Amino acid sequence: NYYAILMAGGVGSRFWPVSTSNFPKQFHDMLGTGETLIQKTFSRLSKLIPKENIYILTNEKYNDLVLEQLPDVTQQQVLLEPEMRNTAPCILYASLKIQKENPNGVMVVAPSDHWIEDETAFIANLQTCFDKCQKESVLMTLGITPTFANTGYGYINFEANESAIKKVKKFTEKPDYETAKTFLKSGNYLWNAGIFIWSVHSIITAFQNFQPKLYELFDEGLSVYNTDFEDDFIRDNYGRAENISIDYAIMEYAKHVYVLPATFDWNDLGTWGSLYDKLDKESAGNAIVNAQTVLQDASGNMIRTADKKVVVIDGLHDYIVVDKEDVLLIYPKTKEQDIKKVLQKVKDKF
Ligand code: GDD
Ligand code: MG
Repeated sequence: NYYAILMAGGVGSRFWPVSTSNFPKQFHDMLGTGETLIQKTFSRLSKLIPKENIYILTNEKYNDLVLEQLPDVTQQQVLLEPEMRNTAPCILYASLKIQKENPNGVMVVAPSDHWIEDETAFIANLQTCFDKCQKESVLMTLGITPTFANTGYGYINFEANESAIKKVKKFTEKPDYETAKTFLKSGNYLWNAGIFIWSVHSIITAFQNFQPKLYELFDEGLSVYNTDFEDDFIRDNYGRAENISIDYAIMEYAKHVYVLPATFDWNDLGTWGSLYDKLDKESAGNAIVNAQTVLQDASGNMIRTADKKVVVIDGLHDYIVVDKEDVLLIYPKTKEQDIKKVLQKVKDKF
């Protein structure tokens, strides 16, 4: 009864120049381990979920990358979006398909590009959530203890009690900085890890209640899902879906939401700096992927080359140094959020 849908349609533009819209970060070996992020995620999930029940949701243009990197996945398991519409439409579409195959299915929705090292704890947490979702009609999410007022995350206000699973009072997606600060101060808040667990029945009911338009759109195609006519229906209709994330579409409204505080370390690898935090460092605190280095008076740098290029650095601290065949980026870590904006300038110029 266990299913997974793997979200792999994002672009990861703050990881430019390695991540590009033709080859986004989930398809790169960001950690230098020999495996790409989506391969790591797939193998982690397959410890609990049958491989044939893991669906990959992504843009049409990444189809070949998915099939190449995940040889255990068949074309039927890759759900292709003709246009980017954020996460709510594709989650609903996949849920309806799974429901048609197995009305008693329970599933996890997982990003394909996060860092989670403790697989045993991850699987145990997932199992706890599956158990609850099989018995009750609830929506569940995994929560992370917040460490600073990050405005890029969802915040979960929970009812403090002794039990491992907590009832959610309120879900707030991407609050402004002041609000995030008050959340942090007040306690009883967790970050949303973006990993959701529910039965197909519960999530589809939630869409019926809170996003009736989106529900009608994808329900129209129900009779053709899992048939030869499915692709045509999706190609003709996907663009009509509202561009909205699951957090704004469902989580902020839903009533029966529960959170399990995760017992594993988590990082959403959103920026070069967060990758730096997770990598092993040499003695002066530089994180190095692929490169061979000669370093002097250099610390806190994130250094990455495409191959074993020799990198020589003197007098540089807390910088991102990323070399790709056609681009060399040298950027202060403190301004890493601006890489998205700079990328636009690069596009205008070259
Ligand atoms: N298939 C598909 N299609 N996947 C998508 C699309 C899309 O149109 N858009 C985004 N994704 C994928 C991304 O690749 C990523 O793995 C996941 O869905 C979440 O999208 P993000 O764009 O990274 O979301 P976010 O970081 O703004 O916020 C979410 O994640 C945070 C934790 O990392 C929210 O769930 C927050 O509440 C949460 O705190
Ligand atoms: Mg993200």
